[in-house]
Amino acid sequence: MLTRRSLIGAAAAAPALLSFGRAGALSPEQLFSFGVASGEPTSDGVVLWTRLATNPLADDGGMGTVRVPVRWEIYGDENASTPLRAGSAVAESGWGHSVHVEVSGLQPGRPYWFRFIAGGEASPLGRTRTTPGRDSMPDRLRFCYGSCQKYEDGQFGAWANTVAEDPDLIVFLGDYIYEENPSVGTPRVHLNPAPVDLAGYRIRYATYRLDPLLQAAHATAPWIMTWDDHEVINDYADLADQHNIDPALMALRRAAAYKAYYEFMPLRALSRPRGPDLRLYRTLDWGHLAQFQVLDDRQYRSPRGCQSHKRGQMSVSLVKDCPDLHDPSASMLGAAQENWLMDTLSATRARWNILAQQTQITPYPRRDPDNPDGPANMQTVDTWQGYQASRERLFAQWQDAKVSNPIVIGGDIHAFVASDISYRGKALAPCFVGGSITTQAGDHLLERNTADLPAYRFARNNVRGYGRIDVMPSHCEIAFRALRDPLDARTSAYDLKKYVVENNNPVMQTT
Ligand SMILES: [Fe+2]
Repeated sequence: MLTRRSLIGAAAAAPALLSFGRAGALSPEQLFSFGVASGEPTSDGVVLWTRLATNPLADDGGMGTVRVPVRWEIYGDENASTPLRAGSAVAESGWGHSVHVEVSGLQPGRPYWFRFIAGGEASPLGRTRTTPGRDSMPDRLRFCYGSCQKYEDGQFGAWANTVAEDPDLIVFLGDYIYEENPSVGTPRVHLNPAPVDLAGYRIRYATYRLDPLLQAAHATAPWIMTWDDHEVINDYADLADQHNIDPALMALRRAAAYKAYYEFMPLRALSRPRGPDLRLYRTLDWGHLAQFQVLDDRQYRSPRGCQSHKRGQMSVSLVKDCPDLHDPSASMLGAAQENWLMDTLSATRARWNILAQQTQITPYPRRDPDNPDGPANMQTVDTWQGYQASRERLFAQWQDAKVSNPIVIGGDIHAFVASDISYRGKALAPCFVGGSITTQAGDHLLERNTADLPAYRFARNNVRGYGRIDVMPSHCEIAFRALRDPLDARTSAYDLKKYVVENNNPVMQTT
């Protein structure tokens, strides 16, 4: 049996592979600058992640082209004295010296601890968890979810509070980075110009991932994540950006952004990008208690409706209604993902079916910001509102396949919103959006617009925070957790709003 000492010895015995940096000057802080993470848990395994960097804000992490052997070890307790399992991987420059280890053969429904060892140094210890057994009905799943963490808009106190919630799982719903140019006078400032290539996106992710509170959240529980637009560029749809640039250029940019995303996230080989393509839609089962259907509503969507797509012309996100918005061929998910989702919803045996996706899905007609006293006759074509036939096919499938307890969670709009989804005159599912980890509100008429809409229970866009959901066989408890001061990394969170959803009753109750 390999001991930790012998593993370190084995790594140290490969000096030819370790000729980077200042000889003899490596320390955990230098080599494991980005900490550790885990994700994609199953009942018998999980992905363990790290990324080696001696100069973390350099596009190559200061690592050059060296290949580095990396040991990983998994432990049954936090003392981390005797590994239960161990193995080796190689960190290569082609993948930014990231390491994605897909561990299998673990026991269901229990925590594990893990670390990496490279260059004679050990990484910080991470904690992860397997999901309960496939046929089990666990008593409870606690997960926290968040989205929209613009580095410039505040501190990541939401993540410190998330760690304190001791979640089994963390769900991230998009806008992990913002791709924009550095601002002036914001609480924090992006360190590089708006990225357009792999080097730029790597530096942007590194900026975020050096934050110790974000690292702590990645080290406390496994994550499952999807993206929204800002991981590439604002409001993109497939290969169309907001300015309708040459799709060939957009494909290059998307490929760079997707590659950097994969390098920084604890994803499976299933999600290893090929050029501008990366498979991100998938399910995660928590025994029979819950299934997450994780969507990617950016990569395959049709062009935004009710406007021309002339090369170089700026597109708009708010339009008056037009036939495009109801066109059955206008797709939010693309045909392959939509077919997968329909099949998944037909087959699920989970009591709670949680649709983990980017944005607000409940119908939301808006007032024109330039005419705030006028009628609510504008549509946001960048959301499901621009792909209404797609949305109706999803709602119909929930009804027709008698999907047990659908619940939607979303992000994107930098607000906490609770709403009821109905279809064909029947209540169908609750939707809980938010919060935004840091990003400031964009829709300043949100509270006023939703006050007129019976489907909307609550909307608040002047607070930042995250959601916490306790899923039990009999009911779910949902808490919107708001931060007292989003500019203070040590801020505390409080219950802004709490709801209960009972089994077999899609209408939420306020508590
Ligand atoms: Fe956002």
